[in-house]
Amino acid sequence: MPSILKINGISKRFPGVQALQDVTFDVEKESIHAVIGENGAGKSTLMQIIAGVHQPDAGSIEFSGETVKFTNPSEAQAKGIAIVYQELNLAPNLSIAENIFLGLEPKRSTFFLDRQKLTAATLAVLGRLGLHHDPDTVVHRLTVAQQQLIEICKSLVRNPRLLILDEPTSSLSETESAILFRVIADLKAHGVTVLYISHRLPEVFSLCDTITVLRDGRHVRTVQTKATTEAEAVRFMVGRELLAFHRHPVEPKGDVVLRVNKLSKKGQYEDVTFELRRGEIVALAGLIGAGRSEMALGIFGSPPPDRGDITLRGGRVNFRQPKDAVVAGIAFVPEDRKTMGLVLGDGVGANISSAALRTVARGPFVDYPAENQLIRKYVSRLRVRTPSFQQRAGLLSGGNQQKVLLAKWLAVQPTVLIVDEPTRGVDIGTKAEIYGLFDELVREGIAILIISSDLPEVLALADRILIMRHGRLTGELTRNDATEERVMHLAAIGNVTDVTKSNGQD
Ligand SMILES: Nc1ncnc2c1ncn2[C@@H]1O[C@H](COP(=O)(O)OP(=O)(O)OP(=O)(O)O)[C@@H](O)[C@H]1O
Ligand SMILES: [Mg+2]
Repeated sequence: MPSILKINGISKRFPGVQALQDVTFDVEKESIHAVIGENGAGKSTLMQIIAGVHQPDAGSIEFSGETVKFTNPSEAQAKGIAIVYQELNLAPNLSIAENIFLGLEPKRSTFFLDRQKLTAATLAVLGRLGLHHDPDTVVHRLTVAQQQLIEICKSLVRNPRLLILDEPTSSLSETESAILFRVIADLKAHGVTVLYISHRLPEVFSLCDTITVLRDGRHVRTVQTKATTEAEAVRFMVGRELLAFHRHPVEPKGDVVLRVNKLSKKGQYEDVTFELRRGEIVALAGLIGAGRSEMALGIFGSPPPDRGDITLRGGRVNFRQPKDAVVAGIAFVPEDRKTMGLVLGDGVGANISSAALRTVARGPFVDYPAENQLIRKYVSRLRVRTPSFQQRAGLLSGGNQQKVLLAKWLAVQPTVLIVDEPTRGVDIGTKAEIYGLFDELVREGIAILIISSDLPEVLALADRILIMRHGRLTGELTRNDATEERVMHLAAIGNVTDVTKSNGQD
């Protein structure tokens, strides 16, 4: 196949950062072409240049045999280039249908002004991704994963010739990812070329024909997938030896710190009961929409559950708002870093120390050298790539924003740490660092509840795994009996008794 896209000597500088330096490679027509690299390597910047969001300082881009210079994304779209951004980009107060067809309502035709047709077209594209929502649902009611799938629907209805997917699966579970992979294979069979960014190497290796590796803004190499291995790709990405991660199991576990009894919220979760001990990591596994995040947010008072009791260190608690939970020693790292987690306009350092200021205070005053030391410690342990501590958090790459969010809550040293998809979009070198930090924290005696759709992560970290399905716990596996298959089985099918139990409820 000839190439559809030629990237020639592209460079791009942001204040304090050379994001891309002389990047050159070709993308074959009708191929699925992966772009991989560590956080901050320049992947999103390059994709945004191709899609007309940024303009390069040097170099040129050829698309379909024609040199193109886009000054904005609509020019790229008009040529058949669609992009699904790494960060969610939907209009929260518009419906699913309105978001998907935003800007597509052609003036000369009445097609999309016809609500019935709009609804039908929306249902059709939702169905391709295995979704069954009412097209009139307002988007802010959806989970991060569901919104991600809506973003993909939005790109599909534009019938692109080149589709750019920037970490489309970072918030999807295995089942949802599998549906997406089928859609991508089908697009390829219909002549579409796909540029695919992901930190999940197994999916890159099973899905993509070609792999391009970027490191520190430079092109390292472009290779046919069948001519390389995961281990080799990692070496090219990282350029250093990776630490292997091993949990140090701490037996026996300490006292119960958190007890949740029959926690329920109408339409979200029902009768959830479990305990969390000092020095223990418990994972909550399940599919999208299983109610895991909602239940965990319920513990945190955001919003509080309708029924059930929560006991923290032996005392009954009833948090009406997250602030109360934080004061009591619970930290929550949310899934959606953009709206719930970080102050994107504030500096990296200010974000990291913001929740832990009391630990670096001398009386009413902030001890600035101590604050600086705290920031320095987490920036270095999590390998946050930033030109300075003052850099606005919103200007970091996606994975680096995730690291800042984690750093903020790790710095608090809570009694109970709840983390929702903690390594979403984080590169594999840093993942091991984060697992190491979790391990260190539990050995210091905190308890961690982790919500993760990344099964290898769950299996590597958890002492126990609780599985949720349709808002209920369907099972529990210990570290020793857990396998990916068993977790998936409980997440997707539940066990016989639970299915009959929930029949009357759903
Ligand atoms: N608008 C911007 N202003 C300043 N710096 C930026 C901007 N966008 C990106 N950068 C910087 O450019 C570098 C490359 O970022 P980019 O987002 O392309 O990385 P990435 O490979 O997509 O990483 P990740 O895997 O974390 O998403 C980073 O150092 C980032 O902080
Ligand atoms: Mg990125």
